[in-house]
Amino acid sequence: MLEQHGENGSSEIDSIEEAGSGGSGSVSVVELKRVNKIRRDFVANVSHELKTPATSLKLLAESLVDVLGEDPEGARFFAEQLRDETERLAKLTTDLLDLTRLESEEGIQNPQPVDVRSILMVMLARHRPTARRKNISLSWKRSGRAATYTVRGDETQLTSMFSNLVENAVKYTPVGGRVEVTAESDESEVVVRVSDTGIGIPEKYLARIFERFYRVDKARSKETGGTGLGLSIVRHIAENHGGRVTVKSTPSEGSTFTVRLPRG
Ligand SMILES: Nc1ncnc2c1ncn2[C@@H]1O[C@H](COP(=O)(O)OP(=O)(O)OP(=O)(O)O)[C@@H](O)[C@H]1O
Ligand SMILES: [Mg+2]
Repeated sequence: MLEQHGENGSSEIDSIEEAGSGGSGSVSVVELKRVNKIRRDFVANVSHELKTPATSLKLLAESLVDVLGEDPEGARFFAEQLRDETERLAKLTTDLLDLTRLESEEGIQNPQPVDVRSILMVMLARHRPTARRKNISLSWKRSGRAATYTVRGDETQLTSMFSNLVENAVKYTPVGGRVEVTAESDESEVVVRVSDTGIGIPEKYLARIFERFYRVDKARSKETGGTGLGLSIVRHIAENHGGRVTVKSTPSEGSTFTVRLPRG
């Protein structure tokens, strides 16, 4: 049983009677300490990530007040920055809520048949305007002769998963590049690949990019506005559907994210 003593977070686990690791129904002290640390790190990360945009909003609002009535150009600039920073904060909170919900659920509540191909079509249409602005070709290829791409799951979650992958592919690919989405399926699974000719990810970071808040280049991602939650959302959704996501990447050449989902 857990009893709370004092204010030190780690003291919560001092009174565990049965500490044998791996024993049925018991949790080891080491494991609980680890979980507690993850929770503390998460709260610290969230606070940090919320503090940055909150500080910017305050500074931008003050700058706007300063130039109002004297410098319409400057006022417009600060107002636009305020809008962008507010959007970023809104996205961060939505992503955090999504992630918290995904983590607390096991599997999918009320799974329905979902046609992965039609989700991908909608996804391509959604990201095409951004791709076009960067002169990136965004194409779709169905490989094999599979007639059906239906899985059992949650359409909203699957849409969010593919949207994150296509968004990343477009975001991390320089002007003039290519992003290709392919799908294939057999009796047992549907496999979707999102490939890009982008900046790629050095091998030593590959294992970490699915962690919450992890960004390869923090300075650069300030420009691109990322919070590092997208891929952890992707991983949770794939796993909640009984599937998995993997990545292959070569710096300066590009990346391929592969999602495998069992057929319903
Ligand atoms: N297609 C890609 N090409 C190169 N690097 C990528 C790609 N996808 C992800 N990454 C790297 O992995 C990191 C984590 O991606 P993730 O989607 O979780 O966060 P993000 O895009 O920075 O922010 P957001 O929460 O808005 O998605 C990115 O910051 C980037 O460094
Ligand atoms: Mg992302």
